[in-house]
Amino acid sequence: MIPAGFLQELLSRVDIVDVVGRHVELRRGGANFMGLCPFHAEKSPSFSVTPSKQFYYCFGCGASGDAIRFLTEHLGLSFIEAVRELAQGVGMAVPEEQVSPEERQRRDTLRQRRLSLGELLNQAAEFYRAQLRAQPRAVDYLKRRGLSGTIAARFGLGYAPPGWRTLAGVFARYDDPLLEEAGLVRQRVVEGGDTSDETPPEAADRGRYDWFRDRVMFPIRGVDGQVIGFGGRVLDDSKPKYINSPETPLFSKGRELYGLFEARQALRDKGCALVVEGYMDVVALAQAGYANAVATLGTACTADHVQKLFRYTDSVVFSFDGDAAGRRAAARALEAALPHASDLRTVRFLFLPPEHDPDSFVRERGAEAFEQALAQAVPLSRQLIEQAAADADLGTAEGRSRLVAQARPLWSALPEGALRRQLLPELARRAQLEVADLAALWGSPVPTSGARPRTGPASAPPWAARGALRSPAGRRAPAAPADLALRLLLRHSDWWERLSAEDHGLLHGLDGLHGRVIAWLERLLTDQGPLTWAALDTALPDEPWAAQARQWVTAADPDEAQDYADLQRVVRMLWVDRLQLQAQQLAATAPTLRDELERLRSVNEQIRRLKAELAAGAS
Ligand code: UTP
Ligand code: MN
Repeated sequence: MIPAGFLQELLSRVDIVDVVGRHVELRRGGANFMGLCPFHAEKSPSFSVTPSKQFYYCFGCGASGDAIRFLTEHLGLSFIEAVRELAQGVGMAVPEEQVSPEERQRRDTLRQRRLSLGELLNQAAEFYRAQLRAQPRAVDYLKRRGLSGTIAARFGLGYAPPGWRTLAGVFARYDDPLLEEAGLVRQRVVEGGDTSDETPPEAADRGRYDWFRDRVMFPIRGVDGQVIGFGGRVLDDSKPKYINSPETPLFSKGRELYGLFEARQALRDKGCALVVEGYMDVVALAQAGYANAVATLGTACTADHVQKLFRYTDSVVFSFDGDAAGRRAAARALEAALPHASDLRTVRFLFLPPEHDPDSFVRERGAEAFEQALAQAVPLSRQLIEQAAADADLGTAEGRSRLVAQARPLWSALPEGALRRQLLPELARRAQLEVADLAALWGSPVPTSGARPRTGPASAPPWAARGALRSPAGRRAPAAPADLALRLLLRHSDWWERLSAEDHGLLHGLDGLHGRVIAWLERLLTDQGPLTWAALDTALPDEPWAAQARQWVTAADPDEAQDYADLQRVVRMLWVDRLQLQAQQLAATAPTLRDELERLRSVNEQIRRLKAELAAGAS
């Protein structure tokens, strides 16, 4: 029903640790994550999730499977529901079940093409590898660069001979369109009679020629080891130094990392990944004992890259050349990493001396010096602050404002957590602002302007007059503000992001079930972005509080107004509750000191203002 290619793609994009982790508390233990098995009763954890295999297995009861299986077994979803749920989380559209025969045909063709492309690329890689052995020039080149035969074999390095049509002797049909699609051969470019300077003289009549010629070949492998593309390097100083495979149905630069397949084991053993810029850096680091290195493929590091890496390890070190280009690349990498920098993960930045890349550095200075450099890698928090302070003269108010403006998008991209909270005062200190001022600037929980006090209806609380809080006579009792807040957020999870950090803190601090549901919701939203209520509903775990959450949503009055202003109003009411409690506590201590009295006065003032705003909004 659902094409196998889609499922494969889906499972390669979701992370089973995230999926299972939403329902089972997991702790890392070596290569796996362990937790209490949700499929049988147990007191000590025998349920394992293996990120490298994207598979779970229980040593106690034998339950096992992939992310789809987990959702069908644990939540009782149907297969298609589980697929939809996962697909929504990673932003993929599930192919309609009722596809036209043409569409089905097209998809079959695509899958067939991917298979055929894979075969061609594997075959080419085999050929290039065999050529390397026969080519002293290429072998010498690799030896000069310090590589052993073992490392060359491990990465499947090869050599593409100089001829224009060498592959014609390798593949049965040199005119097979798939060879061109795989990026192995090119069509001669003819424009208005002019030919490109790449025109192969002896192939001019037939128009096709080998793309990779006289180059050391680096096969790029997908997570399953299948060759999906190549990089090829010249043996001298000619240009271009590297050429790469084009984007194909198998290969996308923005998603693939060179060396990831080869690094899998080392990522576990070393507990961290080293992200470098070049093919040569990866192999040279492997040669020097750092088999945990991977490279982006001549592109900036993307969030997809980072997400992929975090499936294998909790710790990533980006390494950059110490020049201006390296700094720019670091800026991109920081942005890509921020959304994934949860409290249990570490991201660091290693800057090498300007004249070096990792390859030249380890070869010249040795592994020990590299180890020392690694130990000096800059943590993400510091890199964020440095990047925010770029070109900002903190000695002037203008410079500090620039810092605030540059810091905001970076700080906002961090997931909610201890790191994000700690960075706020850090940034405030550098900007010479009070934390509260900075928070206010970035989205205040307690708006300070605008609303002029007005008196609401004397009998009812001012906010009961409209919208989500209206309680028509003879219908349901008015819902408590906390219930309403949850109801609105579960229905409109995209509103969560519009609330300020302080509002988030307030909601997290709600008593009992409310706080619990908020914690669950935020985690899900951080991972997956806004979700519909239908999706949230299916994602709710099988626990008593989940039933309560459903109840909040379904208890809604049919003509209840639901817009963002309603949520804001409810959140203000929660602030009133919270501040009133605070005022009571302050009053109970019988304040005598100036400071205490001052605080009480300020809390009461905030309450007064909030109530006035509520009253103003209610009429
Ligand atoms: P570098 O120029 O830093 O190359 O490019 P390198 O890896 O240090 O290569 P060596 O040490 O001279 O052999 C970094 C990466 O940028 C991409 C490649 O992916 C390369 O590994 N690149 C570079 C290209 O795609 N094309 C080029 O012409 C140059
Ligand atoms: Mn280099």
